Amino acid sequence: MIKTTLLSGLFFCFYSPLQAQSATTLDIDASKTVAEIAPTMYGIFFEDINFAADGGLYAELIKNRSFEFDWPLMGWEQPNSDRHSYNKNSGIAVPVQYSQEQTNHNFIRVKINDASGYKLINKGFRGIGVHENENYRLSFLASNSAGSVTQIHFKLLDEAGKVLGSSSVDLTKGDWKKYRTEFTAKATSKKASLEITFSGQGEIDLDMISMFPENTWKKRENGMRKDLVQLLADMDPGFLRFPGGCIVEGRTLAERYQWKKTVGPVADREILFNRWNTEFSHRPTPDYFQSFGIGFFEYFQLAEDIGATPLPILSCGIACQFNTGELVPMDQLDPYVQDALDLIEFANGDVDTPWGKVRADMGHPEPFNLKYIGVGNEQWGPDYIARYKVFNDAIKDQYPDIVIVSGSGPFPDGDYFEYGMEQLTQIGAEIIDEHYYKSPEWFRENADRYDSYDRNGPKIFAGEYAAQSVAIASPENENNWECALAEAAFMTGLERNADVVQLTSYAPLMAHTEAWQWTPDLIWFDNLSSYGTPNYYVQQIFATNRGSDLLKVSARGEKLIGQNDLYASAVKDESTSEVIVKVVNTGASSKSIKFNIKGVKTGKKAEQIILKSDDLTAVNSIEKPKNISPETTQVNVQKGVQLSPYSVNVFKLKIEN
Ligand code: AHR
Repeated sequence: MIKTTLLSGLFFCFYSPLQAQSATTLDIDASKTVAEIAPTMYGIFFEDINFAADGGLYAELIKNRSFEFDWPLMGWEQPNSDRHSYNKNSGIAVPVQYSQEQTNHNFIRVKINDASGYKLINKGFRGIGVHENENYRLSFLASNSAGSVTQIHFKLLDEAGKVLGSSSVDLTKGDWKKYRTEFTAKATSKKASLEITFSGQGEIDLDMISMFPENTWKKRENGMRKDLVQLLADMDPGFLRFPGGCIVEGRTLAERYQWKKTVGPVADREILFNRWNTEFSHRPTPDYFQSFGIGFFEYFQLAEDIGATPLPILSCGIACQFNTGELVPMDQLDPYVQDALDLIEFANGDVDTPWGKVRADMGHPEPFNLKYIGVGNEQWGPDYIARYKVFNDAIKDQYPDIVIVSGSGPFPDGDYFEYGMEQLTQIGAEIIDEHYYKSPEWFRENADRYDSYDRNGPKIFAGEYAAQSVAIASPENENNWECALAEAAFMTGLERNADVVQLTSYAPLMAHTEAWQWTPDLIWFDNLSSYGTPNYYVQQIFATNRGSDLLKVSARGEKLIGQNDLYASAVKDESTSEVIVKVVNTGASSKSIKFNIKGVKTGKKAEQIILKSDDLTAVNSIEKPKNISPETTQVNVQKGVQLSPYSVNVFKLKIEN
């Protein structure tokens, strides 16, 4: 693909110099609005994958804080304890399963024989990231009935064992009680650990050992990582789809995402095995479980915080078809449908409705204004259509104004896709979610994908897409400039078809640099820092220049879909009185363009936002987070402007009349 673009660049340089240098005139008709651009046009899809929730957005620093993983002591170390001895010179913790029925099944019983020799250590999610001078809040539940344990001591250690912070808590005698303490980190460390020691002797029971930075997003307890939410907010997303992805469906139906188990008190949210734990043998993540510290309430709140319309996706009664594909029988579908109806009540219902009350009790009496709900993530075939119809009828019957998002499966073409589109169109589906993980070449060649869609058919949600530099699900995929550039070219096609395409989102959204399963991803982070990829900046400059009205743009009477390596779309922004033109040059040579704007008068000057790199393999990284990032300049557009090789350009022209 790179070759094709390079060759075409060379062709114009050597064989057609006049053509290469003569300006392409973009004729923009600002006298007519082709369609209104939906406020949801550019959004984000939060998928619980790659440690995006636990170990990522969720600011909890202790892994397996409530001892609920399949191996209840996974994530915890007891360096001075031996399971095959009485540990007379130290002690040992063992898990106690006190309840099968309740949601928090386990705690640990620590037997301390000699406090001077016993240690319990948690190393967080690939280390605990702490920042110098930041405050950290610790809390834990303890039951201290037997024995004479008097104090618990916390030490934050860096990798060399240097103490970065410490605190001790006096323990009272008696049944379960919540304790809190805090400390300030004396230095920054990406891989600190929390060491717990004791004073006294005997047995003590512990649960929910938790540590959060005080400085979370909006300083909330049980909060989210501030830098990561900021990156999301900076995209000005029109919607937030959550919580996945395949985890919605589960590897089996029992492992599907059940939103009702993710609301209410955090300690009562039952932990779930995550299918990404075992999904890829090349990227095993045996410690990937969902604590649901971020549950549906927190997702709705996040959407509200960043000004995005919430778009939850629910299981439709089919487990992931790439896994078991387990089906709930049609006559047992009711609880699944009820989950959808109850979710609408949870989000929008009055505080005296049962689920509206749950929301209010969690601190949000005002409704979350849910308008969209997704039924199924990425299902296909007749089993999906049969189940979708039941959901559709039930939801529309009770909530006629809620827009239901259906799906056309994992591929943008082929049997599954065609069958799904045909059936959903017949049913009168309102919005269909399409997914495409394809080569950069595919993205460049499909900028006209939606030009032929029925203008009166279902609206489209391009819900998961990303150019793959090697192949779908390859661990070698990179978020390189070639992919981002190809996505930008394709996105001009999404925008040109904004009458049909009403929601779009790149996928997946986030990945921990040391604990990912899937690449490429829009945002990468480690325990201290995060960065947006070139693909992120493409999304950002489209979303923050969304405009309100779609305008027609053409060159020599044709839409620009790759001729001379150029792609274009144009919008008007009523609120800022601007014509905004997006032009992508996927070629190796620079290009001259001119604007011929009809219907409004614009000035000589324009703001130009440019994303570019001469190197198609270039990436951003923790070390160079802004290697490829937008630059803004003022240009005189009267005589035309130059587009750099391999560049994405947004021109903002003020309307003067
Ligand atoms: O984004 C990664 C996965 O790709 C999603 O979980 C799924 O919806 C798609 O197959």
